Amino acid sequence: MKSKQNLFVIFLASIFLNTMIQFDANAYPIFAQQAYPNPREANGRIVCANCHLAQKPVELEVPQAVLPDTVFEAMVKIPYDQQIKQVQANGKKGDLNVGMVLLLPEGFELAPADRVPEQMKKKVGKLYYQPYSPEQKNILVVGPVPGKDYNEMVIPILSPDPAKSKSINFLKYPIYLGGNRGRGQLYPDGSKSNNNVYNSTVAGTISEIKTGKKSSKITVQTANGEVIETVPNGPDLLVREGQTVSIDTPFTNNPNVGGFGQTETEIVLQNPGRIQGLVVFLGTIVLAQIFLILKKKQVEKVQLSEMNF
Ligand SMILES: *[C@@H]1O[C@H](CO)[C@@H](O)[C@H](O)[C@H]1NC(C)=O
Repeated sequence: MKSKQNLFVIFLASIFLNTMIQFDANAYPIFAQQAYPNPREANGRIVCANCHLAQKPVELEVPQAVLPDTVFEAMVKIPYDQQIKQVQANGKKGDLNVGMVLLLPEGFELAPADRVPEQMKKKVGKLYYQPYSPEQKNILVVGPVPGKDYNEMVIPILSPDPAKSKSINFLKYPIYLGGNRGRGQLYPDGSKSNNNVYNSTVAGTISEIKTGKKSSKITVQTANGEVIETVPNGPDLLVREGQTVSIDTPFTNNPNVGGFGQTETEIVLQNPGRIQGLVVFLGTIVLAQIFLILKKKQVEKVQLSEMNF
């Protein structure tokens, strides 16, 4: 019951926030949040790929190691050609949005604002990262946001402190990223978006094409009579009246220019004691070397004084 309420609150909050950042109902981390308790499936696949079928690369940069209870930044890159436009839900062309989900190790979370240095705040900008759910503060999502402004994102992260929490250890941990640009091909209910190629489902001859406000109706004369196929506006029609089509002849081009990608990296939660130990160890090596050199000089002096001319 509680979790349902929480979900509802998140839902409202995200609608509100999304509206504030010019919500364009085109990319939907919220769909994943509603449908999947964990965005990463057992086989490692991030669930965004269920609706964003095309693959495109993403990049993730984090420090190699961090100390406990420290704020550091993760850099996410979702590269794409900014000149390209995509088909929008209304059939017109528009700019691409981006979104991402970052799966941090247990205990890592978004750094509270009062711990983020001013310089880092500037890099973060106006982006608002949300926890995936109230119980999963280590999973952060953002989007849909305009790709022009946010194809690179900086996320301020706070590392946990093993001294404060028994379940956290000084270890090497994996970090997973899923990043998307552009609209999906499927909605969570499995229905197709207009960001798709549309094929003929029958064989015959096209007798009429009627283009309306939302879709085109393509009438195909088949051996068994007339079949009317509906193609939403958006993708470019490739067929004309009088043309013969067979099953799977494309009615349209493939308008999709976006895609989803995932990557992973590792981060070491570093024990400061070990670094101090290392510094002491290195210090002793330097001292030992200095003493060796001094000893060598001394021996040389003795040798010099013992020389007889
Ligand atoms: C459309 O037809 C092409 C072959 O022309 C096929 O590769 C593709 O999978 C079909 N797409 C759909 C959505 O049926």
